[in-house]
Amino acid sequence: MCGIVGYIGFRKADSVIISSLKRLEYRGYDSWGVAVKEENELKLIKKVGAIGDVEAYDVGNGRIGIGHTRWATHGKPSERNAHPHTDCSGKIAIVHNGIISNFQTLREELESRGHVFKSETDTEVIAHLIEENYNGDLLNAVMKALEKVRGSYAIVALHAEKEELVAARYKSPLVLGVGDEEYIVASDVPAILDYTKRVVYLEDGDVLRVYDSGYEIFHDGKAIDRKIEIIPWSIEDAEKGGYEHFMLKEIHETPKVIEDTLSEYLDDEITIDASFAFGISEIVFVACGTSYHACLIGKYLIEKFVDIPVKVEYASEFIYHQPPTGRTLVISITQSGETADTLEAMRIAKKKGAKVLTITNVLGSTATRIADFVLYTRAGPEISVAATKSFIAQLIVLYLIALKLSHIPRTEKMELLKEIKLLPEVVKRILDDKEEIERVSKLLAKYENLMYIGRGIGYPIALEGALKMKEISYIHAEGYPAGELKHGPFALLGEKTPVVASLVRDHTYEIMLNNIKEVKARDSIVVAVADEDDEEVSKYVDFVIRVPKTNPIFSAITHSVALQLLAYYTAKERGCEIDKPRNLAKSVTVE
Ligand code: AGP
Repeated sequence: MCGIVGYIGFRKADSVIISSLKRLEYRGYDSWGVAVKEENELKLIKKVGAIGDVEAYDVGNGRIGIGHTRWATHGKPSERNAHPHTDCSGKIAIVHNGIISNFQTLREELESRGHVFKSETDTEVIAHLIEENYNGDLLNAVMKALEKVRGSYAIVALHAEKEELVAARYKSPLVLGVGDEEYIVASDVPAILDYTKRVVYLEDGDVLRVYDSGYEIFHDGKAIDRKIEIIPWSIEDAEKGGYEHFMLKEIHETPKVIEDTLSEYLDDEITIDASFAFGISEIVFVACGTSYHACLIGKYLIEKFVDIPVKVEYASEFIYHQPPTGRTLVISITQSGETADTLEAMRIAKKKGAKVLTITNVLGSTATRIADFVLYTRAGPEISVAATKSFIAQLIVLYLIALKLSHIPRTEKMELLKEIKLLPEVVKRILDDKEEIERVSKLLAKYENLMYIGRGIGYPIALEGALKMKEISYIHAEGYPAGELKHGPFALLGEKTPVVASLVRDHTYEIMLNNIKEVKARDSIVVAVADEDDEEVSKYVDFVIRVPKTNPIFSAITHSVALQLLAYYTAKERGCEIDKPRNLAKSVTVE
């Protein structure tokens, strides 16, 4: 997820573009760039780092230009990988948000026809494809180029000799801001609100041509009209896409995040290169916080599907434990790729001769430089300190690793892969029906202590649910294996300590129901997260948060999304500062 901008009008384009890119920084902030048309040439600037730190920048005097703030997906953050990207003549420049899935094939074809590439990005192929089709008509060249492209894109193209911009979208957002004698094309409305509240939302397949005195929209090659809408939001609201907090916005991005992460590693088959597993005798997961809970679910999945011993260590404790050997695969999970404890554990593992795989969300992060193997989650930038969509993306990668390494019968594997592709729709159903979650959160907001319980895969779900509640609502919430309660925590139960139970419909169901009855017998209010068609549970609990029925193995996804929402609405009910909770940071870069 990057932010792109195009401007044509009476103002100095570079200052408009830089201020608009700052409004889109929540979409990506590892590098940025601007191109301005001046006379019949392009003036370009590309920089590593967040555009937010830039006051102003004189790129050129032109009044037509394009700009980009990046969240790297292909090619680590660097000046040459920053956008805009140009063609061989340097006369065509483009900015892009999305992923070109067939870029490698296109690049090889273009190189075989003499094109010279300057970056490692997927995006640059578009500039060269436009070049190949350009004969004075930029619109036509862009349309022709996009016929060859697979994947998702929102682009804006600029030609040094044309007084216009051409833009297009497919599976990535793009809006046109209609000002007075000026136009701004952008990934999202925060970029245009300083100049106009009149916006046109482009649809998938739309191609836009903007020039001084107006614009045209084409769909399937035909000119069409799209309605101009008036934006009611403030800029701050707009950055949150109309959601009250980034956390809620990011939870609602989960279906898309699952789609994007699946599209990276799952075609008809799982495309993960599993060479990291060759010759290993054990797996050791290391991580912190929410990522540590993902590791626990990874252990559960790998031990279920692959016959190999798995250990999970808190990264900060790893140094004090039995060091790995040369036949150990150490898997670190880290959203930011910068968590000091996790990085140190990775370095120790490498020193001990272990192979290190990291699952991370940030390209070019330190973790990717330490690791021997890297698998990316495609969660995009996560602004809220509480990890939500990134956790779900980590689980998706873990399901695919476990199934890739598994020896289960092919029919069973293909059945599970078919069901994993349905998860975006399944999660959408949870997001569309939050009534009971909001009702329960109003009750839980009154308590200072909560207990979360689960069994099997439900145990790490309970731990993560409790962590989310702790970090944003400041309620003292503890996650526990349900079977452990009678060995101590039972003493805490009673009217002052409600219990949230993750009731997974698998081999743990019956005994979990018994644990719930034992908790009820000690006067605690019980909230169960259970399947939509579970008639039994409501006899024994006070509230049931129902989630769509899936193969129980995928309850880690459905239950976790429901528990993220429960924490969010409880914290909201308590008036907490949700996106930036006290005493916490998004990336903990100190040990
Ligand atoms: C989770 O909501 C917290 N932000 C925190 O526990 C986090 O998971 C932990 O600091 C690890 O961060 P990482 O995944 O970026 O390494």
